[in-house]
Amino acid sequence: MPESYSALSEIPCTKEQVENCIFSKWYSRFKSHVPITRIIKPVPPEFIQYLEQDGIKLPPVEQETSIYTSEPVGNQANGYSDWEGAREEEQHEDEIKPLVHFPELHNQIKQIIAELGPVTPKLNWSSPRDAVWILPNNTTKCTEVNEIYLLLNASNYIVHDLEVGHQQGNEFELVLRQWFALNPALEFRIFVRDSKIVGATQRDLNYYDYLESLTHQLKDLFDEFVEETAIPNFPDKSFVLDLYVPRPFDKVYLIDINPFARKTDSLLFSWNELATIEAQDDYELRLIPKNNVGRFASKEHSENQVPKDVVDASLDPGAIKELAEQWTKLLERQQEESDSE
Ligand SMILES: Nc1ncnc2c1ncn2[C@@H]1O[C@H](COP(=O)(O)OP(=O)(O)OP(=O)(O)O)[C@@H](O)[C@H]1O
Ligand SMILES: [Mg+2]
Repeated sequence: MPESYSALSEIPCTKEQVENCIFSKWYSRFKSHVPITRIIKPVPPEFIQYLEQDGIKLPPVEQETSIYTSEPVGNQANGYSDWEGAREEEQHEDEIKPLVHFPELHNQIKQIIAELGPVTPKLNWSSPRDAVWILPNNTTKCTEVNEIYLLLNASNYIVHDLEVGHQQGNEFELVLRQWFALNPALEFRIFVRDSKIVGATQRDLNYYDYLESLTHQLKDLFDEFVEETAIPNFPDKSFVLDLYVPRPFDKVYLIDINPFARKTDSLLFSWNELATIEAQDDYELRLIPKNNVGRFASKEHSENQVPKDVVDASLDPGAIKELAEQWTKLLERQQEESDSE
């Protein structure tokens, strides 16, 4: 009987490989190809504790507006009487609050947003793409610091980064990338094994009719970037690049570098293929075919779109009320801002 399956190929991935892909480790070597970015490193341990604590606690709006005063932000500044403030403290003794426990970072984020405009956040490796449901615009675009807190707190991908960082003993960093209107059709993932491209794929799994006719042009750009920029500047011989190639196709932007390992999504390839494919001078740029139905039509991150905080909160009526209030406040504030523009 013919074999109808193949054995799973082993794709070893070392701690070092994972560390090489920490944003700040490669950023400076590729700066001229990376869209405008600020890295805050290391972030204070309280910020990590804040991301790890249950629920989502945003700073109260009143305190928020006093952040630029010279007064340290505390009970005096928030309009509570001392007695009420003390009672608040008693109730949530262990709770980490941005304005109390990491005001400098909070201010730094606000300053970066003031300087760059809207940003999209990530930690050492991951962006909270699975948590876009929590923001009204349904993207990772953050126009204010609270949106960054909401996204990071609600994301399972961020939980994963925290786990890996702790396990490996890495310093944590907050990466803020200036938001730009990026056309997802022109994002590609390039698999490099032993210094050879073994495959490339669309990153956004929708059908775009114009991509096929661009194949040669795109591959020329990938080849040039991989050979002249990526391989000479990256410590590993195997890695996975996320590239963005906007019209008029004269510049390649580096969005991310990921480990050549099963934990990286192989998208239109399988990891078995990528591990065993014969490395030749030519390789396939795999695209979604016309009238695609089935496997790839499924919603991205659907497995990760369980809103954990909502689920947790649903077990606790007080928490769901708080979550709903925070949400309403954020929406109101955005409405006010757009009305005043
Ligand atoms: N500066 C930016 N402005 C707007 N959108 C961006 C920007 N940078 C990245 N994105 C979008 O965010 C997506 C995720 O970014 P990134 O690849 O860094 O996340 P990731 O968590 O590493 O993803 P993966 O798990 O697939 O490796 C990108 O595919 C791109 O669509
Ligand atoms: Mg990545």
